[in-house]
Amino acid sequence: MATEWVISRLGEADRAAWANVVESVGWRFDPAEIDLLFATGEAWGAYLDGQLAGVASVYRHGQSLAWLGNVAVVPDVQRRGLGGKLIDHALRQLDLGAGPVPVGLVARKELAPLYARFGFRAVGEVVRLRADRVLAPHLPQEPMAADASDDAWLEDAYRLDGAAFGADRSQLLPRVVRAADKVIAVRDEANKVQGIGLALSSATGMRLGPIVAQNDIMALHLMHLLAEDVDGPIAMDVPAERSSFLHRLRKLGFEGQASSVMMLRGAPALPGQRQHLYALLRPAFG
Ligand SMILES: CC(C)(COP(=O)(O)OP(=O)(O)OC[C@H]1O[C@@H](n2cnc3c(N)ncnc32)[C@H](O)[C@@H]1OP(=O)(O)O)[C@@H](O)C(=O)NCCC(=O)NCCS
Repeated sequence: MATEWVISRLGEADRAAWANVVESVGWRFDPAEIDLLFATGEAWGAYLDGQLAGVASVYRHGQSLAWLGNVAVVPDVQRRGLGGKLIDHALRQLDLGAGPVPVGLVARKELAPLYARFGFRAVGEVVRLRADRVLAPHLPQEPMAADASDDAWLEDAYRLDGAAFGADRSQLLPRVVRAADKVIAVRDEANKVQGIGLALSSATGMRLGPIVAQNDIMALHLMHLLAEDVDGPIAMDVPAERSSFLHRLRKLGFEGQASSVMMLRGAPALPGQRQHLYALLRPAFG
C-alpha cells in the first residue's frame, strides 16, 4: 500500500482540488462559501502519491486567537494517520508564525479524542438548529434596527463582535458582510450599535450568524429580522449555554440536528464576553 505523503500550503490554484476533498466527506458548499472558507484561511493539504487526499484550514483572528476548521480526509484513505498529521502540521505552522496562540475548534463529539491528542480540551457545546419555517416570535417593542445600506456603523459592529468573540475578526468580517444576504444592526436611542446579525446563503439553506446581542429578546428580534423573508431551510449554530434562547427557538419551529463539542488548546477558557454570542458565524470560524 502506498504511503508517500507530503504536506504543503495550498494556494489559489488548489481551490478546486480542496473543494473536491471537502465534498468527498459530504460537505456541500456553494462558490461564495468556498471563497470565504478557502480564501480567508491558511489551507494545508496532504498529498498521498501526488493526489490531494486531506485538508485542514487555520483562521487567525487577530493576534490572540486562531481557529482550526475544515479538516477532511478523503474516505478511502481515512484511519491511516493522515488527519492527525495534517492537524499536527497546521498547529506547528501556526505556532511558528505567530508564537503560541490559543486555538479553538468545533467538532463532532466522536472526534474529541482525536483533537485531545493535540492538547485540545472541551470548553463547551454547540447545537446545530434547523427550521423549514420559522414562526414570528411575540416580543415586546420593536428594536431600532438598521440594515447595512450605509457602512458608517460597521466599525461599531465589528467591535461588538470582537468583544463577544474575544478576538478581532475585522479582517474576516468585512468579507462576510459583503457576501451576506442580510446584515442587521440593533441600535439604541443614542444610535449606538447594541446587537448585530448576519444571514448568509449556503448550499444547504440560509445560515444565520453571527448573532451578537445584549439579551435573549434582542437575539430573537435579530433572528426574526434575518429570517422573515427567507424562503427555504434556515440553520444556525447556537452555543448550548444559551439555553433559554435555544428553548425559545425550538418553540418557533427550530429543531436540534446535532450537537458538537467546542474545544480549545493553549488557554483554559475562551476569551470574550461569550454570553453575548447567540449564534456562531460558522463552526469552522468560531
Ligand atoms: C476526521 C478526519 C479528518 C480524520 O482523518 P483520518 O485521516 O481518518 O485521521 P487519523 O487516521 O489520523 O485518525 C487518528 C485518530 O482519530 C480518531 N478518529 C479518526 N476518525 C474517526 C472517526 N470517524 N470516529 C472516531 N474517531 C476517529 C481515532 O482515534 C484515530 O485513531 P485510530 O485510527 O488509531 O483509531 C476524517 O475522518 C474525516 O475527514 N472525517 C469526515 C470529516 C470530518 O468530520 N471532519 C472533522 C470536522 S471537525
